[in-house]
Amino acid sequence: MTTFALNNVRPYGEDVTNILIDVADGVIDAVGENPFDDADEVVDCGGNVLLPGLVDMHVHLREPGREDTETIATGSDAAAKGGFTAVFTMANTSPVIDQPFLAEAVWTKGQEYGKCDVYPVGSISQGLKGEQLTEIGLMSRSGVRMFSDDGKCVNDPQLMRRAIEYAKAHDVVLAQHAEDHRMTEGSVAHEGEQAARLGLRGWPRVAEESIVARDAIMTRDYGGRYHLCHASTEGTVELLRFAKNQGIDVTAEVTPHHLMLTDEKLATYDGLFRVNPPLREARDAEALKQALLDGTVDVVATDHAPHGSEDKCVEFEHAKPGMLGLETSLAVVHRIFVESGEADWRFVAKVMSERPAEILRLEDQGRPINVGEPANLVLVDPQSPWTAHGDEMASKASNTPYEDIEFSARVVGTWLRGTQTYDAKKA
Ligand code: DOR
Ligand code: ZN
Repeated sequence: MTTFALNNVRPYGEDVTNILIDVADGVIDAVGENPFDDADEVVDCGGNVLLPGLVDMHVHLREPGREDTETIATGSDAAAKGGFTAVFTMANTSPVIDQPFLAEAVWTKGQEYGKCDVYPVGSISQGLKGEQLTEIGLMSRSGVRMFSDDGKCVNDPQLMRRAIEYAKAHDVVLAQHAEDHRMTEGSVAHEGEQAARLGLRGWPRVAEESIVARDAIMTRDYGGRYHLCHASTEGTVELLRFAKNQGIDVTAEVTPHHLMLTDEKLATYDGLFRVNPPLREARDAEALKQALLDGTVDVVATDHAPHGSEDKCVEFEHAKPGMLGLETSLAVVHRIFVESGEADWRFVAKVMSERPAEILRLEDQGRPINVGEPANLVLVDPQSPWTAHGDEMASKASNTPYEDIEFSARVVGTWLRGTQTYDAKKA
């Protein structure tokens, strides 16, 4: 049996302990007060923080169709470097993931590459056209756990109602990109003072909130397991609070960029800051932060959206919406919640690993760091300053909105079922 020891670690940032991993089984073999010095391989972790491997409910790995911007392989590298052991990749590829064989191909490629579990998201409508439902039942039988037209909203209420009913029948998650397209035609920025000043067409909060309200009521009457992608406004937070207080089965995510950045960033018309939903105002970011703290918003998801420079380094109106997220997410969450003293590492484990695994019912992810549990782990040095640079990222793209920003927390190593998928020393 091959074993390796992670000695001198602090699970969840708490007391120092030592962990022994059984490589063949990919599980935690022992946790103990004394270092496991006779393991086949011994790593002294210097008191760094150990968390369960992170789970990202929302990424775009662009394969099939735009392998020039990201592939399942490069996206898996970026995920492992960011501390993730599982990601859900959205269906807005070319072709759209709207049939079982396409979903199966995504999963298989991810497994063959072996750096991260890449779960395919199936689309709700065929070809993402918002007209005909996909075979949700068939796809769910081939293992698809979540369905979304992300990138686009399921605007048509009748189609959404049917989708909710089918999703309920097949016990899968429906994830909505809430944007009433009738209110956002030609919009490139948050509708507010900043967009007015810059002469950019605005995307009003109500375009999101009206869909959230409608979907919450539909979920109350017809469904279960509704998930809101990238909540971005204060009003959305209020609606989620209302829905949860009514006992409606809704969950929600917030992106690191909607927590950390606002539309003030648009002042230079830099296409890097174009994203859907758009960066909003400080009061929205603050409301989202409080909502994550009190559980109204369940998880952090990156919406990692790689784009080539030909689509980002252009006039703001022509830039494609989307930002990289996988390699900066943990550092951003650490900055906003841990460094500020507003939350601890238990909270980080909850919103970036345990809750997403629970929502998607992943049995081997987001598990406690205990004997017998899968060794899906991430080791973090909370005090290892580094500066984000798009051209140094493992992602094939470099459209990070955090260029030149210094962070403190750095991923040192990631393990998927006991196999190391990222090692900062070798990177
Ligand atoms: O900014 C975004 N980019 N928002 C989305 O909903 C889709 C994504 C993409 O696919 O690039
Ligand atoms: Zn989206």
